[in-house]
Amino acid sequence: MAMAKPISIEVWNPSGKYRVVSTKSMPGMRWIRLLTDNDCRLEICTEPKTILSVDDILALIGDRCDGVIGQLTEDWGEVLFSALKRAGGTAFSNMAVGYNNVDVEAANRNGIAVGNTPGVLTETTAELAASLTLAAARRIVEADQFMRAGLYDGWLPHLFVGNLLKGQTVGVIGAGRIGSAYARMMIEGFKMNLIYYDLYQATRLEKFVTGKL
Ligand SMILES: NC(=O)c1ccc[n+]([C@@H]2O[C@H](COP(=O)([O-])OP(=O)(O)OC[C@H]3O[C@@H](n4cnc5c(N)ncnc54)[C@H](O)[C@@H]3O)[C@@H](O)[C@H]2O)c1
Repeated sequence: MAMAKPISIEVWNPSGKYRVVSTKSMPGMRWIRLLTDNDCRLEICTEPKTILSVDDILALIGDRCDGVIGQLTEDWGEVLFSALKRAGGTAFSNMAVGYNNVDVEAANRNGIAVGNTPGVLTETTAELAASLTLAAARRIVEADQFMRAGLYDGWLPHLFVGNLLKGQTVGVIGAGRIGSAYARMMIEGFKMNLIYYDLYQATRLEKFVTGKL
């Protein structure tokens, strides 16, 4: 197979027994310490390319690799999982709760365990959704562009009239961790009514809304 050009890496604990590759540098030091304390040689890709291709990742995996930490922008399917298996790898971890980019069947076929990171960004992402809701209802982005373009000439009764959220209905598709946290913020903070759709009944959320929790 044609190898992509060599990719720049940063190495931690070079004498570690297990070779672990991270396709990106990630925040903080705790994950690095956790790996190096557990006898891993960690190689972090430092290539200044936002999204790595499958060929780039094949080059990073190389001939011997025990595990990879990857990102949601990467295409983790049969090609990468079979390469990881050939390199002696047993684990892949996706730095995300969602795993749309991971072909779990292919991972299973190749005996690679897959990890994700649920829970850590629940409230953060719900706050971001609440921010976007307010920005849309209150036309913050449009108004900001208007001001910066120097178009503001004084207050007018119709200028950027927004929508009141209080008493309106918010719709949530997928009332899981993030959807439910967002729903609670909109109900508690803005006294909105809720309508949701999910494959399962969101019992805790329903109890929260009806005040029975
Ligand atoms: N910055 C971001 O934008 C950001 C950050 C973190 C997570 N996410 C995304 O948010 C998603 C949700 O994360 P979570 O922790 O709340 O997961 P979760 O598993 O707790 O919630 C997902 C919910 O969606 C429901 N669902 C699945 N298929 C459905 C369908 N076809 N119709 C309706 N509902 C369906 C599930 O039953 C579940 O309740 C992740 O998949 C991830 O891609 C985005």
